[in-house]
Amino acid sequence: MKKPKIFIACDTTSPNVIKKIISHTKTNKLNIGYKFGLEFFCSKDGRKFISKLKNKEIFLDLKLNDIPNTCASAIHSLRDLKNISYLTVHINGGYEMLKTIKKASKKINKKLKILGVTVLTSFSNSSIKKIGHTKSIKDLVKKQAVLAKSAKLDGIVCSGYEVKLLKKICKRMDIVAPGIRLKGDSADDQKRVVTPKDAFKNGATAIVIGRSITKGNIKNNIQKLIKSL
Ligand code: C5P
Repeated sequence: MKKPKIFIACDTTSPNVIKKIISHTKTNKLNIGYKFGLEFFCSKDGRKFISKLKNKEIFLDLKLNDIPNTCASAIHSLRDLKNISYLTVHINGGYEMLKTIKKASKKINKKLKILGVTVLTSFSNSSIKKIGHTKSIKDLVKKQAVLAKSAKLDGIVCSGYEVKLLKKICKRMDIVAPGIRLKGDSADDQKRVVTPKDAFKNGATAIVIGRSITKGNIKNNIQKLIKSL
């Protein structure tokens, strides 16, 4: 059986904390990769640290969202980072931006997968209305998935609640679910939270999990995760 694919969200500015996360999450029961977002990438030592990581699956969660030309330039400026496997962009940026990013990414690294972020897991149906959306999150995410597919992205990022809805639209695409909590853990700022087991049951091809693993005893948390699956 395929090992469950887990990306650990390394949300810190400290390379030492990242080193600890990496050494304490070693296990042969899971297929573990490491996700770096803006917090670490923008920090003083972040980019350099990432560029030197070897033999790890790296997910760069930059959530690009700008005019097509600026996004293409941002992709070109990542060309020295040959070790990145996944990069995120906001589907909100629109079809032209998505197509331009996909084209630019092929030029710098043919193996780099571009994932389109749908509605952030920190949104609820009421908070999404406040930024002007009239559709429900489910309808919005479906529409965004269709757009991501038409722009030939490699996958999408959505909460574990929407994975089932998107399986048909996103056949053969990666479906990555953040907003994951081990049973009993606080949701913190996340609004659409599911357990690791439910995310995979719904059809996620990978999950992103941060605080449920990185806060407290990391080794124990990894064991809890393995047992829960
Ligand atoms: O600590 P927690 O598990 O909530 O971290 C989730 C991670 O996934 C964060 O790094 C966050 O930026 C990212 N993410 C998310 N929701 C999305 C896309 C990415 O929470 N829709």
